[in-house]
Amino acid sequence: MTLPRGIVHVEQLPVEGQRVFVRVDLNVPLTKDKERKVADDSRITAVLPTIEHLVKRGARIVLGSHLGRPDGQVKPELTLEPVAARLAELLGQEVVLADEPAGDGARKVVGDLREGQIGMLENLRFHPGEEENDDTFARQLASYCDIYVNDAFGTAHRAHASTAGMVRHVSQKGAGYVMAKEIDILSRLLGEVDRPYLAVVGGAKVSDKIEVLDALLDRVNAIAIGGAMANTFLTAQGKNLGKSKVEADKLAMARNFLRKASEKNVTVHLPTDVVVASGLDAEDSQIVAIDEHPGPLMALDIGPATVEAYRAAIARARTVFWNGPMGVFEKPRFAAGTVAVARAMADNRLALTVVGGGDSAAAVVQAGVADRVTHVSTGGGASLEFIQGLELPGIAALAAG
Ligand code: 3PG
Repeated sequence: MTLPRGIVHVEQLPVEGQRVFVRVDLNVPLTKDKERKVADDSRITAVLPTIEHLVKRGARIVLGSHLGRPDGQVKPELTLEPVAARLAELLGQEVVLADEPAGDGARKVVGDLREGQIGMLENLRFHPGEEENDDTFARQLASYCDIYVNDAFGTAHRAHASTAGMVRHVSQKGAGYVMAKEIDILSRLLGEVDRPYLAVVGGAKVSDKIEVLDALLDRVNAIAIGGAMANTFLTAQGKNLGKSKVEADKLAMARNFLRKASEKNVTVHLPTDVVVASGLDAEDSQIVAIDEHPGPLMALDIGPATVEAYRAAIARARTVFWNGPMGVFEKPRFAAGTVAVARAMADNRLALTVVGGGDSAAAVVQAGVADRVTHVSTGGGASLEFIQGLELPGIAALAAG
């Protein structure tokens, strides 16, 4: 495993008996019912190796995470309670949750920790200082520890108090197992890769993905596009997508991208057929070719001919990066395209197959193939920024002297 110069792995830190602050990304989906339980614990299971390592080495562990976007206010529905409970269950060990991210309650929880015990601060974003990267808040967090470990790759693209500000106030710092593995594998996509290199990019909006698409043009041999953003590219090529979602103000951007791709000899695969219906909750759907007019219906997934073409492109590739669903995969009727991409990645045993976080990570779990791809990133926005070659503040802070 290679870490960038200056970054120390948690295994190399002298953590015995020390108070170790671990920034984790436990921003997990919760069930929508009253109980608000953890709906997908992938991000919790991901950080177990770092926590277990620290427990074994007799550190006094202080966990910090955000959950959702409470905008600096205490929002009871975004308490970390269900997360701490699930973590305790998985570890078979108590996790004491402070009733605030900083202050007397937090200090007491930290002060009471014995070797091998775990405390967790309440949602860091309940405090306005977290997202503002406020130095007073950063110093407060730093005062709770002797050593800082960042295992929150999913939040590494945010320059917040717990990911950036506090790090300069702690003398020893390092990367946890999740962070180290993410850096190691995602870095491979920035170097010499086996070819062909295919990127599969989906999602709702061209505007959300244009930067990553542009950056990929300098690295990949081909890009396969799906999801509602494909509608905008198809419309830019003169196709009529009926009532499908199209970003009318992004047609020039889409045309410009297609022109650059052709100049750089990057093949762009777009859907040749789509699954159309009257809406997300429609009881029936049909398949239409892109050259047929779907009338009053809207495209909600890629069609079977497109699935076949994307599957073949994935099978030919020796490096594949995927981010973003091919359709409205939360609805079973429109999930086939996304699930097929997940399976095609898993079936290609010869390639380096990397799945960006967020929806695509959820899709590989849903398709039951998460352990058959090379890597499923825990970071959505973070993995996209990383593969663009951008500097992530959470990683830069770990390397800073
Ligand atoms: C994520 O889920 O992508 C991370 O936890 C970052 O969350 P944010 O987009 O609210 O900063």
